[in-house]
Amino acid sequence: MSFNLLPLPYAANALGPLISQETIEYHYGKHHRKYVETLSALLLHEPGLQDASLVEVIRAASASKQRALFNNAAQVWSHNFYWHSICPPGAAPEPEGELARLIGSAFGSVAGLASALCNEAEAHFSNGWVWLLLEEENLVIRSFHDADTPLVHAGVIPLLNIDVWEHAYYIDYRNDRADYATAVTEGVLNWSFAAMNLDGKGADRADQRPEQQAASDVK
Ligand SMILES: [Fe+2]
Repeated sequence: MSFNLLPLPYAANALGPLISQETIEYHYGKHHRKYVETLSALLLHEPGLQDASLVEVIRAASASKQRALFNNAAQVWSHNFYWHSICPPGAAPEPEGELARLIGSAFGSVAGLASALCNEAEAHFSNGWVWLLLEEENLVIRSFHDADTPLVHAGVIPLLNIDVWEHAYYIDYRNDRADYATAVTEGVLNWSFAAMNLDGKGADRADQRPEQQAASDVK
């Protein structure tokens, strides 16, 4: 069985100038693609997982402590989630309704949430992911190291993520993760996606079945 690289939800140049087409061509076209290819190669040796969805592979690999399989599968899923967590500048309306209420309760304002996300991104040591999660009906920010994902942590519902692996920003921002985090949080976060994920189905929205529709080449 194999997984394919899912299509981006926008053109590769749609996030500019905050995230350049060149970054997308490397991040999506090379890094994300490599995780997909490595995952597919590893699954050739996993007869028990031939019909498993991506999320099922991640949870099985976590339970059996198959580190390489977990790392590559989790990275594929987290990247699927990330491409929906960001969107072209100006494309997402400001939070409203239940999401706005939760943001106000936990962070005071959207600016307060953005600042907290930036602080977490900047403070996170080494590679990983910053997540906005729903936990016991409250918004919380957590960061996870390397390929770790909220999928294997009980009691949290994923709403948005920010990739803080260096490959997410080295072309546009060199070593300056803080500048990258500021650009993402102030310019391209997809609040509509976060609001949608309050239904608890965010994990499914980044899931994929084996041999699902192939991505077209990066535009
Ligand atoms: Fe990445």
